Amino acid sequence: MNIGIESISFFTSRYVLDLRTMAKARGVDAEKYVNGIGQEKMSVPPPGEDVITLAANAGHQALESIDTDSIEMVMFATESATDQSKAGGIYVHNLLKLKPHCRVFELKQACYSGTAGLLLARDMIHQYPDRKVLILMSDIARYGLNSAGEITQGAGAIAMVISSQPKIMTIEPESGYYTEDVMDFWRPNYRDEALVDGKYSVRVYLKALTESWNLYHQRTHIGFEQFSRFCYHLPFSRMAEKAHKHLAKINHIDLSEHELATHINDGLVYNRNIGNIYTGSLYLSLISMLENNPQDMSNHKVSLFSYGSGCVGELFAGQVLPGYRNHLSSDLHQSLLESRKELTYPEYTDFYNFAYVQDGTTQSMPTFDTGCYRLSQIKNHKRIYETL
Ligand code: HMG
Repeated sequence: MNIGIESISFFTSRYVLDLRTMAKARGVDAEKYVNGIGQEKMSVPPPGEDVITLAANAGHQALESIDTDSIEMVMFATESATDQSKAGGIYVHNLLKLKPHCRVFELKQACYSGTAGLLLARDMIHQYPDRKVLILMSDIARYGLNSAGEITQGAGAIAMVISSQPKIMTIEPESGYYTEDVMDFWRPNYRDEALVDGKYSVRVYLKALTESWNLYHQRTHIGFEQFSRFCYHLPFSRMAEKAHKHLAKINHIDLSEHELATHINDGLVYNRNIGNIYTGSLYLSLISMLENNPQDMSNHKVSLFSYGSGCVGELFAGQVLPGYRNHLSSDLHQSLLESRKELTYPEYTDFYNFAYVQDGTTQSMPTFDTGCYRLSQIKNHKRIYETL
């Protein structure tokens, strides 16, 4: 039985900061951001946009051609949750009008948890082939103003329907994974911004990649050369170059510049222009690779490496299905990116500094473009959403 991705879409904020604008404001050479880090732009959420509205918009798009009554489970992966108790997926379940006989819950392990959801969904469908799972991965990446991590912020959500009638990619059952207790990136409950040991986090990422690959290879005997494309978790797009050179090196492969570009470049286009969307970053790269690759990828094998700080890594494989292009939302995604409003630097800091109430007084949100859904109010400590 084939199990995999039947439908996949992303949504990102309608507002964007060009990193050259940030470089000018910071007095930094823009080349550092564009070439050194590999990021051009970052999506910035306006007041009234949160992980719920981002996920609902992505979910709405991904469910366009799916019978919503077939969705038996919603997994909501995030590390920017709005509540310590209630799962964000329950708001989305309501906004998307899914049936009540549906299991909904939230997953957390930094940027990795969406992958845990995907692979668990795969196992569940193996047992119950007529059921479908909606996986939402939604995050707002937020670091301190003026910190080294600031230029790697971003905001967005991925929605995927996993079923036994995949149209885009099958997900192979075997994988290699690795866990180690490290403090490379974390966000204590009392903070809005992540803390990070940046250079160390890159080293831990590469170690988790090595360990995950070794287990994957040991279990499957599948080699580096059997993959046509490689998608990585992308905190910033140059991370893929570092990761891919590293993977080639541990496999004793002398990678040419042309091979490097072929293997990873199409998967960087969207991430370079959106930023880190944490849980969804790997899958944004997958969408980018499928939608920006001029070559027909049918029947090609793709390596997927997921990494979440703290840390967990997992490497697994997917096989692209013939006819996949007919099921992508390329035009929608391109127009979503092209129609974003560019922010000035003061507009960016205004969005960044917007304060949500924390004391139970009623706060009505100013109106910005947040797609089909918005957080309209916080009242008596309750978040109130509306469909537009
Ligand atoms: P930094 O100190 O700003 O940058 O930190 P740098 O000084 O290391 O420079 C970066 C690169 O730009 C270097 O190239 C420089 O040479 C180059 P490299 O040595 O890497 O090849 N450079 C220039 N290039 C051209 N022209 C110039 C120029 N100047 C310098 N003028 C860092 C960078 C990524 C560490 C920082 O942005 C950061 O802390 N980011 C956040 C943490 C992060 O993204 N870590 C990645 C791995 S952990 C992860 O992926 C998990 C995560 O997604 C969270 C989760 O799991 O939930 C983050």
